[in-house]
Amino acid sequence: MYEFRLIGYPIKHSLSPWIHKTFLQGTGLEGNYTLHEIKEFEKEIIELKKEAIHGFNITVPYKEKIIPYLDEIDPAAKVIGAVNTVHVVDGKWIGYNTDGSGYVRALQDSYKQLNDLSGKQIVLLGAGGAAKGIYAAFAQENPEKITIANRTVEKAEAIIQMHGDREVDQAVSIHHVKPLLETADIIVQTSSVGMKPHAEEVIVPLPRLKRSAVVSDIVYQPIETAFLKQALEQGIAIHHGHTMLLYQAQYAFEIWTGKKPTVGKMTHELKEILEG
Ligand code: ATR
Repeated sequence: MYEFRLIGYPIKHSLSPWIHKTFLQGTGLEGNYTLHEIKEFEKEIIELKKEAIHGFNITVPYKEKIIPYLDEIDPAAKVIGAVNTVHVVDGKWIGYNTDGSGYVRALQDSYKQLNDLSGKQIVLLGAGGAAKGIYAAFAQENPEKITIANRTVEKAEAIIQMHGDREVDQAVSIHHVKPLLETADIIVQTSSVGMKPHAEEVIVPLPRLKRSAVVSDIVYQPIETAFLKQALEQGIAIHHGHTMLLYQAQYAFEIWTGKKPTVGKMTHELKEILEG
């Protein structure tokens, strides 16, 4: 009987219990996935160490705070500096970050032609926590070039330097990104700009894009953001951010159980839940 948790605050409206319970059913495994809202992090995380659990997810605002409490950390999560999944093995806590890798898997599952990223030019807009994970996951797949465009260029530079092994990548000001958008194969909006109740906002206006481009937005409330609508108006392929939720969970579930659950029709079900 597996015991999984979600740690964070506030998390009452989290969809993770629904996702993981569906995964448990789909894989024929028995277990629970429960919400564990904690306010006093230091005190309550030490209490959690005493409990017989198999793994947990950790979300805002504790993805960085958890790191000193881990016994081991996956190298990729260490570079990103944030952990969203902990696997408990013989009482030891091992930390991973499945957000970025989940995002890239979600994109590739929707667009099979992106399974091979060689020769692809990628532009990430924004340089916050989400961009760090997504950059790391893309970098592992050897695309031709990744550009990070941000209002504060130094933050974009810091992400690229943190990895330090891809000299082709570049940081630019969001105000100078237009020519790069025109030739990009993949454009990913990684900030919270455009999220309800500011659904009319876009991080940057989109110029005329390459016909084969794919435009993606990690914001999923609303599902069809103003940013994505700009691409749709040009007839350009889009990718909805909500699928990232399912695939980061799929990665976590695999780490905990060794089984890869099917996402399949959950993409559509999740869309309906989010749209109320
Ligand atoms: P996080 O992912 O760390 O939680 P966020 O609030 O979603 O953070 O912000 C991520 C990115 O969105 C940041 O790179 C931020 O730009 P700065 O680094 O210059 O602050 C960018 N961002 C937020 N609001 C923006 C806006 N109105 N216009 C342009 N960029 C914005």
